[in-house]
Amino acid sequence: MIGVLLVDDDALFRKMLTIALGRHADIEVLSQCADGTEVPAAARRLQPDVVLMDLHMASASGVQATRDLLTAQPTARVIILTASPTKYAITEAADAGASGYLNKGGDLEKVASAIRMVASGGTTWPDGSSPPIIQRPHPHGGQHLIPADSEPHATHPPTSSSVQAADAPTPRRRRWRSMVGGLTHLRLPRYGPAARWYDVLTMERPIYRAGRVCGIGLLAVRPGMRVLDIGCGTGLNFPLLRAAVGDDGVVVGVDTSKSMLAVAARRIAQGRWSNVQILRGDAGALNHVVGSQLFDAAVFTYSLSVINDWESAWEAAVRQLRPDARVVVVDLALPSGWGRMFSPLARLACFTGGSDPRRAPWTRLRRDATEVSEAVLRSGHIHVAAGTVNPVRRGKA
Ligand SMILES: C[S@@+](CC[C@H](N)C(=O)[O-])C[C@H]1O[C@@H](n2cnc3c(N)ncnc32)[C@H](O)[C@@H]1O
Repeated sequence: MIGVLLVDDDALFRKMLTIALGRHADIEVLSQCADGTEVPAAARRLQPDVVLMDLHMASASGVQATRDLLTAQPTARVIILTASPTKYAITEAADAGASGYLNKGGDLEKVASAIRMVASGGTTWPDGSSPPIIQRPHPHGGQHLIPADSEPHATHPPTSSSVQAADAPTPRRRRWRSMVGGLTHLRLPRYGPAARWYDVLTMERPIYRAGRVCGIGLLAVRPGMRVLDIGCGTGLNFPLLRAAVGDDGVVVGVDTSKSMLAVAARRIAQGRWSNVQILRGDAGALNHVVGSQLFDAAVFTYSLSVINDWESAWEAAVRQLRPDARVVVVDLALPSGWGRMFSPLARLACFTGGSDPRRAPWTRLRRDATEVSEAVLRSGHIHVAAGTVNPVRRGKA
């Protein structure tokens, strides 16, 4: 007999699945959980052979619940259920350590065969394939999994050579990378002890404030929302965000720089905002920084063009969002049109700030969000894009 633990916040779906599985003499639904946080305790108590886990639950993420479960019980076998059969959803399931993935909208009878397959030590991915992921060495060691569709040249099960081919830099890109690499060393002190002068030296008032005001306006934050500010720096967004979320909301700023956060802490103290918090850590490993907290909105102002592994930072932030979350990206490019005459100044600003103006991180938002609104300010030097990222739909091709 195969013991199954069913985890889904949709009571009707749990009931339907229990009835469907009840027709199979070799499968027994041991229990049901309506919330991912209940899973580790239930699994410890019931020792199920297979856990069927909804990917996106209202109160907890199935990915986080899977990670928590597999940390506590590495031998547990999890099949992720999701209503959104995107490559990104499958990648998320694999990334969390699941043994398979099933489309909630598919044939319920197929669930029984998937359970048998996984209980016997196999995996169950669409079309019997491996999950569409590419393993790439993480810059800080270990492995980092990314969706295959973010690699333009790797369309098939990745081999290390296909990954290298996709990544192989052109001479021009190599020159650019080495320049940016050089800037990395220059910018470290910038976000270090010089942080106390950041607000003054960055031309905040005459140039860059316009981007954050526009972006946070487009974000349409409502009172009571929980907002994540990634690479929050000295907390220049905090007054705007705190005003938007009011007394009942929460703002959480994350940054790697101790010196930048020290300025942010002073700003919070001056504002006497008990609901604005700062956490020190790498945006690429956000779940280690904020834990299983979920947010209604995320803000990236001038940070994605600076963060080395910015794609991981984007994916990590999206994973911490609730359904229908609002996200804004405000970042830098070189001016266009008549504004090109200011390019040397813009280049200097990017150089001193350590920003890569060719990155165009707002394209990630265009890819993953719906209801996207965009604005271009200061002759194309500042791009603003805001949209709704719905976890069950994100990662669309
Ligand atoms: C140009 S500043 C932008 C600060 C702020 N968002 C603003 O609008 O003024 C970039 C910030 O990203 C932070 N940062 C760089 N890499 C990071 C990472 N991996 N995780 C979190 N923050 C990072 C830097 O410490 C710096 O505070």
